Amino acid sequence: MNSLYLLAIETSCDETAAAIFKGDVLLAHVISSQLEHEKYGGVIPELAARLHQQRIVEIVQIVLDRVGVDKTQIEAVAYTQGPGLLGALLVGAGFAKAFAFARNIPLIGVHHMQAHVLANFLKADKPHFPFLCLTVSGGHTQLVWVRDYLDMEVLGETRDDAAGEAFDKGAKLLGLPYPGGPMIDKNAAKGNHEAFKFPSPEIGKYEFSFSGLKTSLLYLLKREIQNDPNFIEKHINDLCASYQWRIIQILLDKIRGAAQDLRVQELALAGGVSANSVLRREFIQLCNASGWKAHIPPVEFCTDNAAMIGITGYYRYLEGKTDSWETTAFANA
Ligand code: KG4
Ligand code: ZN
Repeated sequence: MNSLYLLAIETSCDETAAAIFKGDVLLAHVISSQLEHEKYGGVIPELAARLHQQRIVEIVQIVLDRVGVDKTQIEAVAYTQGPGLLGALLVGAGFAKAFAFARNIPLIGVHHMQAHVLANFLKADKPHFPFLCLTVSGGHTQLVWVRDYLDMEVLGETRDDAAGEAFDKGAKLLGLPYPGGPMIDKNAAKGNHEAFKFPSPEIGKYEFSFSGLKTSLLYLLKREIQNDPNFIEKHINDLCASYQWRIIQILLDKIRGAAQDLRVQELALAGGVSANSVLRREFIQLCNASGWKAHIPPVEFCTDNAAMIGITGYYRYLEGKTDSWETTAFANA
């Protein structure tokens, strides 16, 4: 049972991704990013669904070929059930269900946010339970208490924008292309994070809020552009560095407070924003200074991928958590 071949599918947003596992060992994974959304400045849900529909068969074939495994050897199929864009999710759900039904093998629906957390088990040095995870993606910002692979409790979330949205919306105000997070990260490396001051929100202990930060960037830009129409161009690196620094400080303050309350030994990051180079560096520094063991998935497993769906599907399979043919995708958690 531990060495079964498992196919994993991820289609919750704008990446069409597939992975093959043998037991808990990742054999190969493929990610096809939908660059078509860039010209619209954000993901168009209807277009995302159509592009998944066009590509999913080929992406699965590519990953099978890469491993040298035939589809008849696959013994279970895991897919992202939700949350995400419903039309996009339904393509993955439909494909996974058809594949599993045709082969009469188990179908395993996976929660996307749980999978982000479990991406930390795709590296050699695995976390020990219990641990605290800060999951920061394009749609969610969550402090998660992780008791076991499938036993997790969300301690607090964002009240408004997610950390990834703060990056993406800030980038849009700065005239940078979508998705803004990686662009801000890149420009910030050349800037001074003390050049501009941004506020921190006053909210509950384990809660997050980023909409005020975004608004303060908007007001700063409006004010300065009145005096100098080229203000953004002249200061883009410092603006990115300062804005990014504030997002990271907000995140680190929250995780520090929660870790002290819960007296944890191990801390983890997960989700697309944990690909951020400064967040990774500062998180490791914080953990080292406080005596906590730090876990961060390799960058390729921070943003959406099918490997995290596969590892989660594997643990669900071990616990007998497979689904009936009636299950379907869900947009919201
Ligand atoms: O987890 P993810 O791939 O998709 C969701 O589940 O939402 O996260 C995507 C988010 C986007 O907001 C993107 O801008 C952000 O992750 N992101 C980054 C970086 N790479 C991706 N944010 C900051 N710095 C990065 N290097
Ligand atoms: Zn995600």
